[in-house]
Amino acid sequence: MNWTIPADSPSETTIVSGSPEETVAAGERLAGILKPGSVVALRGKLGAGKTCFTKGIARFLGIEEEVTSPTYTIVSEYGGKIPLYHIDAYRLKGDDDFTALGGEEIIFGRGVSVIEWSERIPESIPAGAVIVELEILSGERRKITIKIPGTKP
Ligand SMILES: Nc1ncnc2c1ncn2[C@@H]1O[C@H](COP(=O)(O)OP(=O)(O)OP(=O)(O)O)[C@@H](O)[C@H]1O
Ligand SMILES: [Mg+2]
Repeated sequence: MNWTIPADSPSETTIVSGSPEETVAAGERLAGILKPGSVVALRGKLGAGKTCFTKGIARFLGIEEEVTSPTYTIVSEYGGKIPLYHIDAYRLKGDDDFTALGGEEIIFGRGVSVIEWSERIPESIPAGAVIVELEILSGERRKITIKIPGTKP
């Protein structure tokens, strides 16, 4: 992996991952700049690699439990150096649903929150969130765009 997260923000970095393991490694590298309260909003279609990227964030946080898409439970909590809240908005109708299940209390808490299908709850994503877009190119190639906002997340 011959790229780094820029020291200055705002920034936008685009990388091409050639394998699931590289996508995990990208998540792990991003996690190095996260803090308690950081929100990572993932975007991308089914199978783009959102959960794979989240596994890297979990690895950085020292979480040994297997991370899987919380499609039915909506929110999974993992205990790491900082708690990880893994949210899947796939089955939510929209922002109101997210608010109703107490989503705001979670993402404004002290954990790191990672949200799959964040495009389904656009109003709920804080301005300081890191936006990660995953796009399927072909085969195992994935284009990953990491947007870090003006103030460090
Ligand atoms: N470069 C890559 N990065 C990530 N995943 C890859 C890559 N190449 C192939 N894959 C495969 O694509 C799939 C990605 O699955 P993953 O669960 O991470 O996607 P997802 O975006 O979370 O999907 P969903 O919307 O269903 O939750 C896995 O089966 C993985 O093995
Ligand atoms: Mg997933």
